[in-house]
Amino acid sequence: MNTQSLAPYRLLEFFVASGVDIPIGDEPVNRLVPAAPPAPAVEAQGGERTERRPGAPSPLAAPAPPDDAARTARELARSAPDLDTLRNLLETFDGCALKATASRLVFADGTPGARVMIIGEAPGRDEDEIGRPFVGRAGQLLDRMLAAIGVDRSAVYIANIVPWRPPGNRTPTPQEIAICLPFIRRQIELARPDFLLTMGAPATQNLLSQKDGILRLRGRWFEFDRGDAKIPALATLHPAYLLRQPAQKSLAWRDLRALKAKLDAPSA
Ligand code: URA
Repeated sequence: MNTQSLAPYRLLEFFVASGVDIPIGDEPVNRLVPAAPPAPAVEAQGGERTERRPGAPSPLAAPAPPDDAARTARELARSAPDLDTLRNLLETFDGCALKATASRLVFADGTPGARVMIIGEAPGRDEDEIGRPFVGRAGQLLDRMLAAIGVDRSAVYIANIVPWRPPGNRTPTPQEIAICLPFIRRQIELARPDFLLTMGAPATQNLLSQKDGILRLRGRWFEFDRGDAKIPALATLHPAYLLRQPAQKSLAWRDLRALKAKLDAPSA
């Protein structure tokens, strides 16, 4: 057997075992060698600059410094008068590095204007492929959890605090979350739900300004300022966590019954 020809496969096996599951470029990059200075902009015939797709990341441009990116995110999000515009603005926004490694934006699913808006962490591989949140195994569990309280997925509005898949499904960094936060806040304002259900620590802590872990926060109601009104927000466990810790499903079940009670309350 030619062991040399096996070496690339061993390397691939090592990458897969380390959690690498997507290529992010066609050519390997030696990050130990200083980057070449940016090439001058190419002038097309007639003196016009060659155009990139609007919003497409320049392959050489360094990502915007986080403060700039966060400021741009706030300004863009604030300027969106409706959800379609917000989605289009996100498509053109290059301030979050996750966009460069994700296949596509995963904006939302379900019905804008629904009474309940559910917010998770970030798209996974299935969501990144399909372009809708919560369509993989965690999403299927979410559908069953909702069905258990008599709610169909199409009767809620679903999004994530970060709309691009982090490589290898890692948790988004605080910086990535901070940059994306103005967009999800605006999405909530524009979708105008009566109730929020935050699933998992990142959505709960960042949207509801909490520091405790999710096992302390779950089951508690908080107030979320939707802009025009303060609405109740319930923290619960993330379905992906429940897939790993099925014994905790009873806690999530308790939370969903609390949500259902609010939905059915005459004053709600
Ligand atoms: N986990 C999330 O938090 N969001 C998704 O869309 C899928 C899995």
